[in-house]
Amino acid sequence: MSGALIPVHPIEPLAGAVQVAPAPTPETRLVDTFDRPLHDLRLSVTDRCNFRCVYCMPKEVFGKDFAFMPRDEMLSFEEMTRLARISVAHGVEKIRLTGGEPLLRKGLEELIEMLAALRTPAGRPVDIALTTNGSGLSLKAQALKDAGLKRVTVSLDSLDDATFRAMNDVNFPVARILAGLEAAHAVGLGPIKINMVVKRGQNDQDIVNMARHFKGTPYILRFIEFMDVGTSNGWDMGAVLPSSEVRDRIHAELPLEEMAPNYTGETSRRWRYQDGGGEIGLISSVTQSFCNTCSRARVSTDGKLFTCLFASEGHDLRELLRNGSSDEEISAAMGAVWRQRTDRASQLRSAQTGAVRSPGGKRIEMSYIGG
Ligand code: GTP
Ligand code: 5AD
Ligand code: SF4
Ligand code: SF4
Repeated sequence: MSGALIPVHPIEPLAGAVQVAPAPTPETRLVDTFDRPLHDLRLSVTDRCNFRCVYCMPKEVFGKDFAFMPRDEMLSFEEMTRLARISVAHGVEKIRLTGGEPLLRKGLEELIEMLAALRTPAGRPVDIALTTNGSGLSLKAQALKDAGLKRVTVSLDSLDDATFRAMNDVNFPVARILAGLEAAHAVGLGPIKINMVVKRGQNDQDIVNMARHFKGTPYILRFIEFMDVGTSNGWDMGAVLPSSEVRDRIHAELPLEEMAPNYTGETSRRWRYQDGGGEIGLISSVTQSFCNTCSRARVSTDGKLFTCLFASEGHDLRELLRNGSSDEEISAAMGAVWRQRTDRASQLRSAQTGAVRSPGGKRIEMSYIGG
């Protein structure tokens, strides 16, 4: 990886203590070629998952013989925390742990504790969130909270047991996810969001049921358009139910009105029930891309830095972590990648097929990069 070295400050780790990142100066403020800052870091902590969701890890591809990442290729928690600390100095304020299924990574609480000690240049703690399938939440919610996790987002594609079991494809029941949600709520891991990936013809009949069920509860339900991430989920535009249709179906029964975003670059558009029953979110990467404000960087479990969900290649940071490079060198490398960033894959979808155009058809899988 090359690129002009940018001025950086040494960042000394303080064992067991709060670690404050230095404040960026005009020279060190990091933006990409479209003036988008780096705000979110999505850290994938494992490429494994106990589910085989049809839109993410279909069994035909991720079967018994699938070669998952060997242990020595995975970043250690120390290596992840080092990258996180450097990213926070570059402006990151939110770290989202993803997978695969992040709760399958042994000792995840230790990583959370290490990340919870980080402080932004303004001295604030970092927002630490986790996206999980919820299967292990009942057991782990308290330990995650104690370690310093702020909030969880749980995937749940249907309340209808048969539909949900078919979509996770490991026969996992809805009731256990609902129990996990309750456990997370009981320990204060909120605001809790629920992600429902909508596939036309598979679970779209459950949209209004889901809305009704979670209306008036502390959970924020978000509907996600089925995306063409990776090359193995058999995506075609016909299976995408546009968010506008999701909104119309709900609005017809439970009237909605639009809300302002929480922050620039948010993935979801927010709508609230007119009767005060709370809010929902619509994540419309296919029909209404949000690339123009995208401030998310992703690091895979083996330490590759990706600047887009639809990228075909990452930038190897593990090599730098393991070859004796200094924090300054790693920081400069990350900065150079971000400064050269031109990604806007969703915005450039093909007018004919609706699909993202990827050179050579190569693309990383969702379970490798954590969505
Ligand atoms: P909040 O912090 O709660 O706003 O979370 P989030 O929406 O950033 O994260 P989450 O893991 O819940 O992502 C929700 C959905 O949006 C998932 O399906 C992601 O794959 C998708 N998503 C997240 N970031 C991006 C992105 O940068 N581009 C695209 N195309 N989709 C994204
Ligand atoms: N399209 C849209 N969302 C997806 N997710 C996984 N695969 C896809 C896809 N092909 C969602 C998961 C999880 C989030 C991280 O990404 O359900 O909520
Ligand atoms: Fe696992 Fe999440 Fe992918 Fe489903 S969407 S297979 S739970 S990583
Ligand atoms: Fe960001 Fe790429 Fe998603 Fe666009 S498609 S919002 S650039 S991750």
